[in-house]
Amino acid sequence: MRKKVIAGNWKMNMLPNEAMNFINAIAPVANSANCEVILCVPYTDLFYSLLTVQDTKIKIGAQNMHWEEKGAYTGEISAEMLKCINVEYVIIGHSERRQYFAETDETVNKKVLKAIHTGLKPIICVGETLEQRENGETSFIITTQTRKALEGVEKEQLNNIIIAYEPIWAIGTGKTATAEDANNSIKEIRKEIEKIYGKDIADCVIIQYGGSVNKDNCQELFNTSDIDGALVGGASLKASEFEEIIRSAN
Ligand code: 13P
Repeated sequence: MRKKVIAGNWKMNMLPNEAMNFINAIAPVANSANCEVILCVPYTDLFYSLLTVQDTKIKIGAQNMHWEEKGAYTGEISAEMLKCINVEYVIIGHSERRQYFAETDETVNKKVLKAIHTGLKPIICVGETLEQRENGETSFIITTQTRKALEGVEKEQLNNIIIAYEPIWAIGTGKTATAEDANNSIKEIRKEIEKIYGKDIADCVIIQYGGSVNKDNCQELFNTSDIDGALVGGASLKASEFEEIIRSAN
């Protein structure tokens, strides 16, 4: 039985005081939840957030990292830098990074391998564009992205990896995939993992849905067979709404 995981991706939002207030507000609901709760916060909020989540069940993640250990990479943050302050998760390959910051399947894979070897748990994002969807390429795109992201990842490491299926056309648009569509895409991803790692591993890997998830549509998504929670953007910026989503995942 897979546990649901609700992760907030704050993107480029929230100052440290807002982050601390938010965490204090949702802590009671997160502490009594059966699902895992993760907040992926901007770099400048990490330290404050990590201090604030002490004695709560909330986990903290970053939204990106570099694959090199150190060196002349102005403006970048390494996996070691995140690990040494006790960050537990890191989003890798979000579509906004693929779209605006030239991230490719190759750099995603390098980051995934580096994260794992450093002891960070990657949340790997995959998803198709509207054009790809309309051309009937969804299955090909999401299975290819999944396979490439996981190249070189060992079987035993899959229990420290989360996959997030985020159709790009559903991100920040208010258009959610129907629960049935999202569930079918997630089944395809699970099948691809089964081809590489076998059924036992595929049955255990956590695969979330992301894309305009909110308090009103989350329950239907969570009632499906294969959707193991959500990666939430906009609705993770409002404590009361995020709490509702956590409650729905119980
Ligand atoms: P929205 O929930 O704002 O559509 O964003 C989804 C997302 O990109 C989470 O990573």
